[in-house]
This record gives sequence, structure tokens and C-alpha cells, in this order.
Amino acid sequence: MTEQRSPDTRFRTSLLEENDGPATNPTDNRTMGEIIAARFSRRGFLKGSLAVSAIAATVGPLAMSAADDARAAEGSAFVFDELEAGIDDRHHVAPGYDADVLLRWGDPLFPDSPDFDPAKQSAQGQSRQFGYNNDYVGYIPIDGSAEHGLLVVNHEYTNPHLMFPGIVEIVEKDGKKTAKVAPLSKEQVDVEMAAHGGTIVEIRKVAGKWQVVRDGKLNRRITANTEMVVSGPAAGHDRLKTNADPTGTRVLGTINNCAGGVTPWGTYVMSEENIHGYFSSALPEGHKEAANYKRLGIPEGAYEWGTHYDRFDLGKEPNEPNRFGWIVEVDVNDPTSMPKKRTALGRFKHEGAESIVARDGRVVFYLGDDERFDYVYKFVTAGRFDADDHAANKDLLDDGTLHVAKFAEDGTVEWLPIVFGQGPLTAENGFAGQGDVLIETRRAADLLGATKMDRPEDIQPNAVNGKVYVMLTNNSKRKADQVDAANPRAENAFGHIIEISEDDGDFAGTKGKWEVLLKCGDPAVADVGATFSTATTANGWFGMPDNCAVDSAGRLWVATDGQGPKSTGRTDGLWAVDTQGAARATSKLFFRVPIGAEMCGPLFAPDDRTAFVAVQHPGDGGEDWEGFGRPSYYEDLSTRWPDFKPDMPVRPSVVAITRQGGGKIAV
Ligand code: FEO
Ligand code: CA
Ligand code: CA
Ligand code: CA
Repeated sequence: MTEQRSPDTRFRTSLLEENDGPATNPTDNRTMGEIIAARFSRRGFLKGSLAVSAIAATVGPLAMSAADDARAAEGSAFVFDELEAGIDDRHHVAPGYDADVLLRWGDPLFPDSPDFDPAKQSAQGQSRQFGYNNDYVGYIPIDGSAEHGLLVVNHEYTNPHLMFPGIVEIVEKDGKKTAKVAPLSKEQVDVEMAAHGGTIVEIRKVAGKWQVVRDGKLNRRITANTEMVVSGPAAGHDRLKTNADPTGTRVLGTINNCAGGVTPWGTYVMSEENIHGYFSSALPEGHKEAANYKRLGIPEGAYEWGTHYDRFDLGKEPNEPNRFGWIVEVDVNDPTSMPKKRTALGRFKHEGAESIVARDGRVVFYLGDDERFDYVYKFVTAGRFDADDHAANKDLLDDGTLHVAKFAEDGTVEWLPIVFGQGPLTAENGFAGQGDVLIETRRAADLLGATKMDRPEDIQPNAVNGKVYVMLTNNSKRKADQVDAANPRAENAFGHIIEISEDDGDFAGTKGKWEVLLKCGDPAVADVGATFSTATTANGWFGMPDNCAVDSAGRLWVATDGQGPKSTGRTDGLWAVDTQGAARATSKLFFRVPIGAEMCGPLFAPDDRTAFVAVQHPGDGGEDWEGFGRPSYYEDLSTRWPDFKPDMPVRPSVVAITRQGGGKIAV
């Protein structure tokens, strides 16, 4: 999700303007936001003129059709008829495809799960139902099948104003309607906690359509209260000890699980991202964790869990935040197993954890820290993956080397090891051991001189072409004197994508080359400086790359977070992005979400015949959309997707996209 910036409204909204915070640039120069707003009003973007190509607006329709021909000739790797960009209250997929809702918030996952009743929610019921705000989606085959497996899904956060009836009051201030949210009851907080975490659920394709296997033996819900083990170098550290856990090795729950991954050995890894929002109150005066928490924005107080649970109250349990911000590994084959917080992979606002086996068998995890000016990391296991020995892989994530990226102007990237005792990571700088270094990963990376990036989101190694794709979603705060080669735009409103080639194709190595694959935004606005290929249509460009996937053919698919009426005049969605040959940097729109949502997932089944996508926080917003024009909340929603029933609220859901009549996607 976007960074949380609105503790007072508690709307936890995903709107870009919330994310951007107050302007800090003191000059009179027009901001990129003003340029974009001017452009949209000029072109009447919200009045249905999207059929007019953005590129056509500058180069003319004839040139556009020539560009289409050129694209065909240049050999785009994707074959499908592009979807039209736009904004409305439902999802859309390219012609010739079905996009079927597979799992909705509240759907039963077990034989004993209660049916979803939004008027009578309970924590007990929610803990047996599909959680809220689905983000990462992974697939773990059963017996090697592409049509029968476990779907693993992160539930990143909760939107109480969309979830609970009777808590929003609309107040008018200065002629503008705003929503005021009442304090949540303990029961509602408990529902929130049960709606967090993850889902593991068996699914099966029957007659071309996916079904949930409700009595699947491995089905499991993980929540903000599931007991977990802390492992790796920071396990048992004094800074992780609390009243409830004097050992510093047992934690209740995982929170704000954004993107994630499935390991080569078939476990599910969940990334704890915006943990700062869950902690409230203040540290005791002069507490030694003050600087550590400040670097992570803790506390932010968007949630009121601390009102009901001491562990989220900093004054009462000052070490609790050190127990979050980790990568969590789940053994999906044992529903009674305790998930493990793998501290060797560092503590920060973890976006995802996609991995690849290096040539020598070590496993490399690429990790983004999603905050403006934070870093790109990779973790290299010490041990080697053994496909034939499951037990040997079990604790690979406890021993290895975390690295942070330094991107140089000359197109090289160096991966700097984050190891206690090396360079500045010593007692002189306040580190007593590797545990300290990992607890304060950001400060360690600061000291190493890592490159400050434009909000690193999902990072995807591509086994087919040997590259690594880094989604940098945006950074409105970067000033002109802060640009560098790897973050080349000031006020980077639309983000960019970097492509890394590790030297000698060795993912475990410490040196590589990089280039910018794509600067995002509307290519028809010269000031934006977008670099989509000229074959990209008005529907094909996008902003704010976030999650991504590669299919088994090695083709890149990019999901976005933060588009909307004011930022790009289109909802978020899934775009197919060419990376090879003359078609490189050509993008085509394949799927788009309803108003207010961001696009998560995406994930391709091993046979490329299904794309799973996660529609997160649909209906969160609507003020700026001319189709609604007021705050959206439980009783008055900008969309009631996907059920469209008057007594059913909007529900975040996973959607399965298949080709009508069968076949691989986009071939
Ligand atoms: Fe949860 Fe970085 O998006
Ligand atoms: Ca995001
Ligand atoms: Ca994300
Ligand atoms: Ca991904």
C-alpha cells in the first residue's frame, strides 16, 4: 500500500496526495502535480475522452496507426487487444479474457467457517475467513500441477471506514465534505487483527475455472495474533524482549504484509512493511530506541490497537516494534507449524522477497525498502539449495549475507555487505553485534553509503533473461539537487523501473550493471519525461509501478499503485511491458481495477494459463472522481464491487484471469 500519512482521519487512504505529504520545495517553480492537473483539465480527461490517444494528441492519428504497425513489426512479446484505460466502479480485462472473482474478503476457507455477514462480524469468524486487502499472491503446486495447488495471499492492512457500518460521520468544513471516523470498539480492533496476515488455501481448476477447496487439509489463516518464532542473528536479543516474551524469541502475529514470495523450496515468505502505523503513544523519555524508531517513522498511530493491547503502546511495551519489520517464512505443508521471523534478512519496511537460485546453488532474495530515499537490498544464503533434500533447505534463511545496493553514475551497481565488524558497522557506531546491525538495518545502510532510491517496491529476478527488475514507485520529495543517475527525475511523481544485470549472470555476486528500463508517466507531456516506446498507446502508459511478475516465458507484467482521477486519469491495473529487442519499453494495458483500488498480485500459474491479480482497497476514495464526488465509506460507497448488492460492502478480492476457450495468456 501507499505510505500511511493520515493518522487523524484514520482513513488509511491510498490517494497519492495523502502519500505525498506537505510540499517542501521552496521555489516558485510549478510542481509536477500542477503541470499534470493543468494537462488533465485542458484535455477534459475526466469527461470520457480517453479514446483519444495521448500520443495521438501530439503526433496525430496517422502516426499512431503507423506506430501500431511498427509495434507489430518490432515483435512485441505480448499478443492481445489492449484494454482502454479509464475510471469506473468495476474491473475490466482485455477482450477475449474472463476475469472471475475467486476469493473475496470474508469468504469461508474451512468447513466450519461462518458465511460472511458484514453486519455481524466477529474476530472468530474473520479468523476462519479470507482476510482484508489482499496484496501478494503466490502459487505452490500440489504434485507439480498447474491446475491444483495452494494459493498464498498476504492481507496487508484494514480500512475500517469501508469495513464497519455506523462509524463514519460526514462533516462539512469550508464547503468540503469530509469523513470523521469514530473510535473503534475492541471487538472491531479484534476483527482488524484477524483480517491481517495471510491465507493459505487449496484451489483447483475444474472445467477451466478455479475453485476454492474449502476442506483443503493445508488451508490456514495467519493473523496479527498467530504465534511465531524469531530466528536468525537477532533472535533472543535484549532489544526484542518484552513483558510477554522475556526470551525475545516468540512474537504474536505479523502485520502489514505487502508483497512477498515463494521460495525455491516451496515455503511462503511474507514481508512486514508499514509497521509504524500500528504503534501509538510515546517511548519513555530518553529511551534508547528513540533514534531507531524515528528512522522508521514509529509511532505513527494510524491504528488504535494500542488502546486495547499494551504491546502496541510504546509507553508500556517499548521493545515491541523491534519484533516487526522482518521477513516471515511459513511452512505451508504443516498448518500447525509456527511461522518464523527470519532476522538475517534485515528489518525495514519490507516490500517483497522474490528469489532465485544462483549458479552455485546459493539462493538470492531481492528486497525493497518502500520509503522515499530508502534502499534496495539482496540477501544471499550461505548454504546451497538442494532440490532433493527438503530438510536441508529448512533453515537456509537463517544464515547468509544481506547486501545493500550502491548505484554508480557509470552504470554499475555494487552490493555492499551489511556485516558487523566490517567498515563502519562497529561498536564505535553503536553496534554490539550482527543482531544490532539487523535491528537497525536502515542505519547500517546509511553508514555504508547506499543509494537513496525513489521508494523501492517489488523486485523481480527473471530466470529467463537473467535480469532483475526493480519497481521504484515515485518520490515527490526528491529535489533537483538530489537527482542521481539511478533516480534521474526531481519530483518523481510517476516512478521508474530499473533493470539490473548481475556480472557474469551471477545473482549471488556483488557487482552488476544497471540501466533505466522505463521512466513512467504520460509520454505526451514533455515535462514528465516518460520514456515508453513510441509504440505505446494512450492506454498503454502508466505511473507508479509497484508489484510485478514475470511469467514462465520471462515476460514482465507490472501492477500499479496510486493512479486515479487526479494523478493519471485512469485507475490502477496490470500492464504488459516488453523488455527485449526493438519493442523494449512498450507497454500495454491488460486489466484495470475499480475506483479507489490498487493492483496487487500479480502472479502467473506455472502454465501461464491463469493470471491471478489482487484488487486491494477498492472503493477507498471517490472524492476526486466525477462519477462519485464525495467521501466513500461503508454506507455510501464509490463502488460495491464485486457483489454490487445494496447490503454488501465493497470487498477486496483475488481475481483469476483466463483466456476464453483456454490457452496461454497473451500469446
Ligand atoms: Fe505495500 Fe510498498 O506497498
Ligand atoms: Ca505501493
Ligand atoms: Ca506494494
Ligand atoms: Ca512479484
